[in-house]
Amino acid sequence: MTHATLLENGLVIDGTGADGWIGDVLLVDDRIAALGQNLRQSLPDGLILQESNCVDCSGLAITPGFVDVHTHDDAIVLKHPDMLPKVSQGITTVITGNCGISLAPFVVEKSEPPLNLLGIDSFRFDSVQGYARALAAARPAVNVAVLIGHTTLRFACVRDLALAASASELDAMCGLLTRCMEDGATGLSSGLFYEQAFAAPADEVVRLAQVVSRFGGVYATHLRSEMQAIVEALHEAGDTAFRAGVPLIISHHKCAGPVNWGRTRETVPLIESLARRQAVAMDVYPYVAGSTVLREDLVDGVIDILVSWSTPHPEMTGRTLASIAAEWGVDQKTVCRRLQPGGACYFQMDEEDVKRVIAHPLSMIGSDGLPHDQHPHPRLWGAFPRVLARYWREQKLFSLETAIHKMTGLSARNFRLHQRGQLQAGWHADVVVLDPARVRDVSTYENPIALSEGIERVFVNGVLTYGRDADDSDLAGHPPVKSRAGRLLKRRSPQV
Ligand code: ZN
Ligand code: CU
Repeated sequence: MTHATLLENGLVIDGTGADGWIGDVLLVDDRIAALGQNLRQSLPDGLILQESNCVDCSGLAITPGFVDVHTHDDAIVLKHPDMLPKVSQGITTVITGNCGISLAPFVVEKSEPPLNLLGIDSFRFDSVQGYARALAAARPAVNVAVLIGHTTLRFACVRDLALAASASELDAMCGLLTRCMEDGATGLSSGLFYEQAFAAPADEVVRLAQVVSRFGGVYATHLRSEMQAIVEALHEAGDTAFRAGVPLIISHHKCAGPVNWGRTRETVPLIESLARRQAVAMDVYPYVAGSTVLREDLVDGVIDILVSWSTPHPEMTGRTLASIAAEWGVDQKTVCRRLQPGGACYFQMDEEDVKRVIAHPLSMIGSDGLPHDQHPHPRLWGAFPRVLARYWREQKLFSLETAIHKMTGLSARNFRLHQRGQLQAGWHADVVVLDPARVRDVSTYENPIALSEGIERVFVNGVLTYGRDADDSDLAGHPPVKSRAGRLLKRRSPQV
């Protein structure tokens, strides 16, 4: 049976960055069937449209579904497949496996840092195929495209993580990665900043990136340093991708730590110069705080650090290290040690740097949300609406069309997602209806778990996933996620 939805009289923003126009979008089954004016008058032959499936979008914008290019959602899509934190922001596709950490291909009962960033103890999938089967069984609400983590490959193949991989270990990593790419992985990620990957020389990553290159994949990297050594780290990332012949994606670009504030004045021109030589993009989240596991080396006594989870002291989540230190009568590093294992938000960035990166044409939006944290960074629930509310509507850093492009068309193009990220006839029907005047994030550092406002309807593969139905009795609020129509997005080889 054919299923159709007609979105009428909205501001159609197609995701390419082009100006919006007032009109209609027709969804038939899992595809966008048509865009134009007065589509009611020219419905395809035999299509019967129920009045309840016609949505008046006057005053609202119709956009492609958002692509969250930077996530650690590998496990949460299986555990909580309704993905409310994401669909409630308008996100219809997540890229998993960032920062060198992916759930596959690795099997272990008890994971250690930084693998525990995924919020799960047991890693159960020795292949992307196994992960894909679990995903199909879980039926997530969003589409999923997977990166394979360099750190995960090291855990799977390297005996001593304090060393570079030996020749035979590297061969084993390349073999595993090859199978993952054959199974449809989107590319490789690295997190050279993390201890378990730091010993890897650039050559190790180049070999792996060469595997990805053969399949037309991408390489995303959490740089070896986002602090003093960031320029060297950017050169390393650029050279690695260039030597392997893969597009480079610089993860969550930032200059961290007060002594580095303002240095996007150096890094952004450097990234631009790399982009003249090779394909380069970067992702960014719209906040001055980062978030990761608790690490003593990031505790400098200067910046604020907010505890997001702690196994020995769950009662301390949501508090700053400074306030706990005062209460316990010890220094902040001691507090950090006592709270481990745990996670935190680090207020390590400067607003001017964040703005410079967000406004840049090479940047796209990624939440970097950590879905398992007890008191998560607010980006998990609010990153995308915050870009619209704060950086488009309030600060006018760019047009609405550009903001949407950074969440959709640009993101899908950089990650080579097939026929997604734009409103185009024949393409997949991932679509958002939002209220440009009202859209805003509600989550904060104090109250991080909150639904955003102004995201009216979200369709994933043509299916209404979030938002109000004509026959919903409770018009006051959004009912929970209505259906789960997400898919694994397998990389298509470039010749297809
Ligand atoms: Zn990262
Ligand atoms: Cu990350």
